[in-house]
Amino acid sequence: MPAHETVRVGLGARAYDILIGSGLLATAAARIKPLARRNRTIVVTDENVARHHLTALMDGFAAEEMEALPVILPPGEGQKSFAGLERLSDALLALEVERGDIITAFGGGVIGDLTGLAAGLLKRGVDFVQIPTTLLAQVDSSVGGKTAINARAGKNLVGLFHQPRLVIADTALLKTLPPREMRAGYAEIVKYGLLGDRAFFEWCEKKAASLLACDAAALNNAVTHSCRMKAAIVAEDEREQGRRALLNLGHTFGHALEAETGYSDRLLHGESVATGLVLAFALAAELQLASHDDARRVEAHIAACGLPARIAGIAGLSASPDALIAHMRHDKKAKDGKLVFIVPHGIGDARIHDDVPLDAVARVLSRSIAHPA
Ligand code: NAD
Ligand code: GLY
Repeated sequence: MPAHETVRVGLGARAYDILIGSGLLATAAARIKPLARRNRTIVVTDENVARHHLTALMDGFAAEEMEALPVILPPGEGQKSFAGLERLSDALLALEVERGDIITAFGGGVIGDLTGLAAGLLKRGVDFVQIPTTLLAQVDSSVGGKTAINARAGKNLVGLFHQPRLVIADTALLKTLPPREMRAGYAEIVKYGLLGDRAFFEWCEKKAASLLACDAAALNNAVTHSCRMKAAIVAEDEREQGRRALLNLGHTFGHALEAETGYSDRLLHGESVATGLVLAFALAAELQLASHDDARRVEAHIAACGLPARIAGIAGLSASPDALIAHMRHDKKAKDGKLVFIVPHGIGDARIHDDVPLDAVARVLSRSIAHPA
């Protein structure tokens, strides 16, 4: 058995483990089999993941003498739509999915979010496991039970909480991930340091290059540390009544940028988070809640990793501050019509604010639009 770390998400009757290590895919079938009442699973994946890794997973199920039925979707954020949900639901129903079955989500955040939502809805709730295959999915989207599709009004607006039974994060799968996707996932790792662990941010500054080059030790440490931080927050506040909102550091800005670029590969989710993290620190410095030194340090690290540190660096984006603020009004964190921002009071100390003056937000956006890094 390959060595691995285990992180427990402590949610009482719905608690589950996240297993993290290099080479774990070979053990996935044996770990999923005990969760399957009918000795079968439906594996939902996308064409890219299928090309690189589906045979290995299916061979594992065959070795366990377990039936595994693949559903292979086109890749891309476009699948997280009403049409995509309908197509997947029809496919799962055609395979006669039953309550008590186990569905395997094998892919990045798109596959995980869409499959988790379909699993939560079909037959009023079917169990599922996550085998995340992108860095972003391993450190964030596969953990915590948020599932969603996008709506015309904004990102992830139609969804539900549906926790997986198990998460298996095989960091060796990341060797086939395109470098741009690695960098995008890395933004969510940096986020954990910035929101609550300054020492981890400093570790990121030192180790980013080896991590992005797929060094196994750096990856396993970063994924484990990120999952530990996320699991602790989710266990305390599963439904985002309070502290879980901290995980959205950078996301209010990021979602507005994604909306403006049409949720397309012009700007990946993790890239929008990277720019959002820099903007969150710029806003904090503008409000004199964080130092300009911290804001500059965050911006320098994001830029050094090849991520977009400024809005001006996002190809083909020419949005005005007002247009971006209009997108922010659809944010799920908005309460009683007020925008809620996660504002860092320095590196490692993010807090929730519902009193941020929008003229300060507009000034920060204007500067980021006007000046490339
Ligand atoms: P993704 O799922 O689109 O994957 C990115 C690309 O990489 C796709 O083209 C995919 O086919 C390909 N790919 C995946 N694994 C691969 C591998 N091992 N080798 C080669 N190619 C591979 O994108 P993502 O960044 O994983 O996820 C983004 C989504 O996650 C967004 O929709 C975002 O809203 C969502 N998200 C959800 C949560 C949550 O808590 N549920 C958190 C963060 C992000
Ligand atoms: N990605 C934010 C959360 O899971 O709450």
